Amino acid sequence: MSDWYRDFANSGVGHTITKQLGLPRPAVLRRYEPGAPLLDGPAVIGSAGESRLRDTLTAVLKDAGVPVLSPVVADGGTDGERLGAVLLDATGVTGPADLAAAHDFLAPAVKRLGASGRVLVLADPPSDADSPAQVAARQALEGLVRSIAKELRNGGTANLLLVPAGAEASVPGPVRFFLSGRSAYVDGQVARLTAADVPGDQDDERPLAGKVAVVTGAARGIGASIARVMARDGAHVVAVDVPAAGQSLADVANEIGGTAFQLDITAPDAAERLIAHLHERHGGVDVVVHNAGITRDKLLVNMDAARWNSVMAVNLQAQLDITSALLDAEGVLRPGARVIAVSSQSGIAGNRGQTNYAASKAGVIGMVRAWAPAFAERGATINAVAPGFIVTEMTATMPFGTREIGSRINSLQQGGLPVDVAETIAWLAQPSAAGVNGQVVRVCGQSFLGA
Ligand SMILES: NC(=O)c1ccc[n+]([C@@H]2O[C@H](COP(=O)([O-])OP(=O)(O)OC[C@H]3O[C@@H](n4cnc5c(N)ncnc54)[C@H](O)[C@@H]3O)[C@@H](O)[C@H]2O)c1
Repeated sequence: MSDWYRDFANSGVGHTITKQLGLPRPAVLRRYEPGAPLLDGPAVIGSAGESRLRDTLTAVLKDAGVPVLSPVVADGGTDGERLGAVLLDATGVTGPADLAAAHDFLAPAVKRLGASGRVLVLADPPSDADSPAQVAARQALEGLVRSIAKELRNGGTANLLLVPAGAEASVPGPVRFFLSGRSAYVDGQVARLTAADVPGDQDDERPLAGKVAVVTGAARGIGASIARVMARDGAHVVAVDVPAAGQSLADVANEIGGTAFQLDITAPDAAERLIAHLHERHGGVDVVVHNAGITRDKLLVNMDAARWNSVMAVNLQAQLDITSALLDAEGVLRPGARVIAVSSQSGIAGNRGQTNYAASKAGVIGMVRAWAPAFAERGATINAVAPGFIVTEMTATMPFGTREIGSRINSLQQGGLPVDVAETIAWLAQPSAAGVNGQVVRVCGQSFLGA
């Protein structure tokens, strides 16, 4: 499913026409390919205040073979070389006056950012500050980053990582994700890290090697993409879907060398059957992706109980039941396990005609937040991923106008691809994402819908 308008805007004549008419020019995004360099150009690292992560950031870039240039100065700097990334360590910010240093560093550096470049700011969480001025300055960084994300063009993204004191070891994996092409459609987001035991020996080409991963709703769409990306990253995937989707489920499983497991996740014995399968056939499970979901749209005033109940059953109750049963089952959820629940932008912003769906997807966000402490106690994590407008067979059937507007109202001016959601989910499953827990990561190109 190609994006005809993006392809047109990037053609010779289309470029001229869209420029003259002042129309949006969505970029071809840099997406991850195995073996690709982390960035397409060198990086610069700046500081605001008494920052504490500079060495960590330098080490991440050095390990990835990315040259680190000295901070660009407004009057010249890096001989016109395009930057792959601009990193600001703002962990030392104590009050609004320190933000001037952020501005002084970012303005000339961002000007030199190349195609699909990355702006990544690291800061302490506002909630951990000890004075109103400190809270204000830390919170100000969120407004700064979200605005940079809206100003960037040419596929560039800007994101903010909140790093509490003591969580420094959690930083490298998330930094690599936000710099890489894996985060192509993650823009204008804030993620908070926690202190965790992060294994230091991850193979970034096959970070899920040796892991068993369950993906529900894997017969098609986003679920099939998650299954493919996880298999590419080394996992053995147990692909789950309803019996009616048996043939396409088998096709996906065969293609990736995984296992097909036919299961209606709303069946009363679904959790029991899944756990028995995982226990007997695979000796346990490392990653569970709750992706299966349905829509039954109607305005609330016209919504019957069947529509309401079926959406709740698939999108929320089944996720709760299966997760709960996995936590209770002795020895099935392996140490360091990961649960990733698929939510939706509708669960954040609400959506006309989707009271049932939005309620279920907001419920998923509540679920991961509630369970995060219990998962942390096991050295495990649970997170949600909230896709925005993702180009699938479903969106291809929308009326032209609805589809065009829906796919353009975000900072990247285009819809995301199933693989963008899959890459984010696969990242959360990585050992190096151990310090990301109870978070909601939106894959929405900084949609203008919802905060
Ligand atoms: N496509 C988007 O733009 C978008 C946006 C936000 C969120 N999402 C969410 O992403 C997830 C995947 O969406 P998609 O667009 O790929 O949908 P899809 O309809 O193409 O695929 C969903 C899969 O889930 C399976 N499924 C449904 N009920 C099931 C059940 N009871 N037991 C087992 N499997 C079941 C279906 O058979 C299907 O294969 C869903 O949770 C959806 O709500 C999608």
